[in-house]
Amino acid sequence: MTEWDLESVLAWRNHPEVRRFMFSRHEIELQEHKAWFEKASKQANRYLLVFEQDAQARGFVNLAVASGSIAEWGFYTDPSSPKGTGKALGNQLLSYAFGELKLHKLVGQVLAYNERSRNFHLRLGFQQEGILRQQHFDGEQYHDVYSYGMLASEWQQLQGENQ
Ligand SMILES: CC(C)(COP(=O)(O)OP(=O)(O)OC[C@H]1O[C@@H](n2cnc3c(N)ncnc32)[C@H](O)[C@@H]1OP(=O)(O)O)[C@@H](O)C(=O)NCCC(=O)NCCS
Repeated sequence: MTEWDLESVLAWRNHPEVRRFMFSRHEIELQEHKAWFEKASKQANRYLLVFEQDAQARGFVNLAVASGSIAEWGFYTDPSSPKGTGKALGNQLLSYAFGELKLHKLVGQVLAYNERSRNFHLRLGFQQEGILRQQHFDGEQYHDVYSYGMLASEWQQLQGENQ
């Protein structure tokens, strides 16, 4: 992600069909977004990535690596993208995370009512590892959070199966 991507990524993030599934759901102003980028892009072990298809920016991934090469990801696609964009973004990110960064584990945390993302994680080959009960308060009510994980060994096995 570069400064050139800031406005597109902000427009996707603020779209109602993306924003409602985020852990912080407020509409983000351009200034706040720029300040966030300024800080986050300088953090070690933090990867801010834009997914491109046919030379067009189609999605965003935020990868935060903790000690032991365990990372958590957050992501969204451009809401006007065709079906299949998410799967392409996910597979490319898995190749990057395990193939290039050599991570040990990738974790995704999903709000319970985000059925699309829950299916999405399972479709990519993540294991559901637990349900954190009423783990998120959105200002009005508590929501369960589903936790998904994939190990490097599991990704390698999937690679073998897909050949
Ligand atoms: C989650 C997201 C990345 C999926 O991208 P997408 O382009 O819609 O997904 P794809 O079309 O590639 O579909 C991939 C899988 O997701 C699941 N999925 C996609 N659309 C779905 C829907 N409407 N209902 C249920 N599951 C759905 C399916 O498992 C699908 O696999 P299949 O088509 O083989 O059954 C995208 O919808 C998104 O950005 N959502 C808003 C932000 C968000 O929720 N981010 C994740 C926060 S944890």
